[in-house]
Amino acid sequence: SESYPQVQRDSRFKELSSDDVKAFRDILGNASSAMVDGLSEDASDDIEGYNADWMKKYRGHARLVLKPSSTEQVSKILKYCNDNSIAVNPQGGNTGLVGGSVPVFDEVIINLSRMSQIRSFDDVSGTLVVDAGVILESADSYLAERGYIFPLDLGAKGSCQIGGNVATNAGGLRLLRYGSLHGNVLGLEAVLPDGTIMDDLTMLRKNNTGYDLKQLFIGGEGTIGIVTGVSIICPQRSPAVNVAYFGLESYEKCQQAFREAKKQLSEILSAFEMMDGNSQLLYSRASGAKLPLESEYPFYCLVETSGSNTDHDSEKLNTFLEHVMGEEIVSDGVVAENETQLQSLWACREGVSEASQHFGGVYKYDLSIPLQELYGIVAECRQRMEEQGLMGEGEDKPVVDVVGYGHMGDSNLHLNVACRRYDKAVEKALEPWVYEWVKERKGSISAEHGLGLAKKEFIGYSRSENMIKLMKQVKDLYDPKGIMNPYKYL
Ligand code: FAD
Ligand code: MLT
Ligand code: ZN
Repeated sequence: SESYPQVQRDSRFKELSSDDVKAFRDILGNASSAMVDGLSEDASDDIEGYNADWMKKYRGHARLVLKPSSTEQVSKILKYCNDNSIAVNPQGGNTGLVGGSVPVFDEVIINLSRMSQIRSFDDVSGTLVVDAGVILESADSYLAERGYIFPLDLGAKGSCQIGGNVATNAGGLRLLRYGSLHGNVLGLEAVLPDGTIMDDLTMLRKNNTGYDLKQLFIGGEGTIGIVTGVSIICPQRSPAVNVAYFGLESYEKCQQAFREAKKQLSEILSAFEMMDGNSQLLYSRASGAKLPLESEYPFYCLVETSGSNTDHDSEKLNTFLEHVMGEEIVSDGVVAENETQLQSLWACREGVSEASQHFGGVYKYDLSIPLQELYGIVAECRQRMEEQGLMGEGEDKPVVDVVGYGHMGDSNLHLNVACRRYDKAVEKALEPWVYEWVKERKGSISAEHGLGLAKKEFIGYSRSENMIKLMKQVKDLYDPKGIMNPYKYL
């Protein structure tokens, strides 16, 4: 692909033989769903789906996918791989956006999709214990039936797995309200490369007994072990949920609206998302959907409230709306009147991901930037693409559009350069320019998606040499043979 950093296959890693396949077969049993074997003569093309990432930007060359159904099987697989220096790539729902979920060369894919049992739920404390391969949306539906909600929500909920969410420390749409997985995950079960099962699957809210080692796996991106079980604290589901979608004249007004939302909606505010006008036009163009407001605006915000009392929440929301409209902070807006409208307003926000790669490809930058300066990079980036003659309507122009959107409530901007094709000239115009811009403002080059392969070369823009050295020491301690997700960020 156009986007690979210069890496070479590490010759320390063994190439698979039929004896290895037989050993894995012995561990997994004969269920046909337990293995996708791309080595044999009559191998099908199924393996390609596991090798290609969601953006169709990265493509691995794995010839074997293993699908364990228990922690014991994961342990035996990893022990075998470690003893034989076989490199592996842990994989959940393969919705990751930084090229971390697919191999670079022939690493064996260990896909967790068959570990999909809900292990337990305590409806007094709200503690849910699941296998790592449980799909996020399935867990949330299970909780909904019991009056609870999963403390994480994101556009990929129908495919991503809780193990993958933990491994990436996914942020998503509810972080503003419920906080990050570093706080909500109570315990983890993980398998280390040598097969050791790290049983830290506690259900304790408080547990100050030495180093909190599970935190290393949260956001570790599969570089030190495989997460097999997760225990997580889930909040009560709010019976009253309201969603409003606004048009605004400037980014300055988005900031004022956020300030007012925090002040006036306070404890019922559950999401504050920002989408620029171009992101909404792109969404409409890609999906064919009509945008909710009559006129076009340079900015839009989506505000969600979740509370326990419909009348109380509506009153608060109405007072807020009257204020922001009266003060001309917001130019126009609509409030969802039923579940269908609520879903279609959320689709305007969540649908931007799909839209941004609809035309062929996308360069994605997931940035933490101090709120005041957050949008500046989008305007500068657009100008840069225009000046360099890279953007336009003609087929010869690689760039379709530059859009900005994201979790404004968490100071997290998604800068997306939607393309007709991946093109080195575009990449050169963007990198390291984007990372320099962010470093100058003391931001982060990865707010929530991680580093994977895409941001491997750029970790130094957000972390000091000493910090990277400490990370490498941790990596070497847990994975001395380096078999876990090699070639990625460490
Ligand atoms: P994968 O993509 O399969 O893997 C991601 C990484 O985790 C890889 O490095 C992989 O090796 C590792 N991994 C996976 N499972 C395990 C495991 N069990 N043990 C150890 N390592 C493992 N991200 C956000 O943070 N916020 C968002 O709002 C958001 N929205 C998204 C919307 C869309 C439409 C899409 C496509 C993606 C979005 N993402 C978002 C990115 C992505 O969905 C998340 O990073 C998600 O958490 C990945 O989960 P997954 O199961 O698909 O993992
Ligand atoms: C989002 O917030 O929509 C996600 O992080 C995914 C994306 O940026 O495409
Ligand atoms: Zn996001």
